[in-house]
Amino acid sequence: MIALGIEGTAHTLGIGVVTENKVLANVFHTLTTEKGGIHPKEAAEHHARLFKPLLRKALNEAGITMGDVDVIAFSQGPGLGPCLRVVATAARALAIKYRKPIIGVNHCIAHVEITKMFGVRDPVGLYVSGGNTQVLALEGGRYRVFGETLDVGIGNAIDTFARELGIGFPGGPKIEKLARKGKRYIELPYAVKGMDLSFSGVLTEAVRKYRTGKYRVEDLAYSFQETAFSALVEVTERAIAHTDKMEVVLVGGVAANNRLREMLKTMAEDRGVKFFVPPYDLCRDNGAMIAYTGLRMYRGGVRFRLEDTVVKQKFRTDEVEVTWD
Ligand code: ATP
Ligand code: FE2
Repeated sequence: MIALGIEGTAHTLGIGVVTENKVLANVFHTLTTEKGGIHPKEAAEHHARLFKPLLRKALNEAGITMGDVDVIAFSQGPGLGPCLRVVATAARALAIKYRKPIIGVNHCIAHVEITKMFGVRDPVGLYVSGGNTQVLALEGGRYRVFGETLDVGIGNAIDTFARELGIGFPGGPKIEKLARKGKRYIELPYAVKGMDLSFSGVLTEAVRKYRTGKYRVEDLAYSFQETAFSALVEVTERAIAHTDKMEVVLVGGVAANNRLREMLKTMAEDRGVKFFVPPYDLCRDNGAMIAYTGLRMYRGGVRFRLEDTVVKQKFRTDEVEVTWD
């Protein structure tokens, strides 16, 4: 089977083409702004403008035409309303024009599901990006959230800190580089709150300490990462203990971070659990993960009528009954 997937929950428009075991195309374009931040309307216009050229590029790269596609999948939520509506409208138009089935996919679930293309079977997922931070795993026929951020996503927290240091957007790679030169741990508030996470305290305190001018930025970047990442690893480890799963995957844009990979890998090895990170283009927001999840859903018997395709800005991870696995 061949699935076409359209991702557009936030600033990235992505179009992917996949089969059961292969990515045939995975192209994207991200709206970037000087300062970062959220621009729902501009992002939606970006997606609308780039949809046709990106679709053409994806089909070319995959070496197929729309006639070869068996199912069209799109990111139904959670995300920015105007962006979601552009993507859903495009998906519906294609489905009607080419008489293809259409499937709405939960973005957070897709981040984890794509790891199954690589032989992962039933993992605990740590999904970390700009806007999202979530620990999720299948339990009782649904992806349950075992912990999530109560305020900002870890990526946004890092980006905000980087902006304060005046090193630009996106901050993740730059903070990671600085942190490698850190020598001294500076105490910052711990980010675990019960089973959930909160990064606003870490951020506020790191910014406050930076403004005093008494600390090396390298040490602050290092301490920021150590504090925030230990919290992520702790909540993930608890989810593994609770569910008895034997696999853990790291997904989302922040999965690029080598220190986070290393910390999670160490925890997994200590517990005798397999650790996996997909290639980066399948970690960040992308169309292939939407296509692949849509394909699995479709094969598992999931069907959408057009009226089921309304977008869900607050689409919850545990809303979806996972009948396809
Ligand atoms: P979502 O809509 O899922 O929240 P997003 O719009 O944030 O996704 P992604 O590409 O998934 O987009 O993630 C981007 C984030 O990843 C940014 O916050 C960026 O700073 C962060 N990031 C990228 N590389 C690194 C890195 N090496 N270390 C830490 N963070 C990183
Ligand atoms: Fe994402």
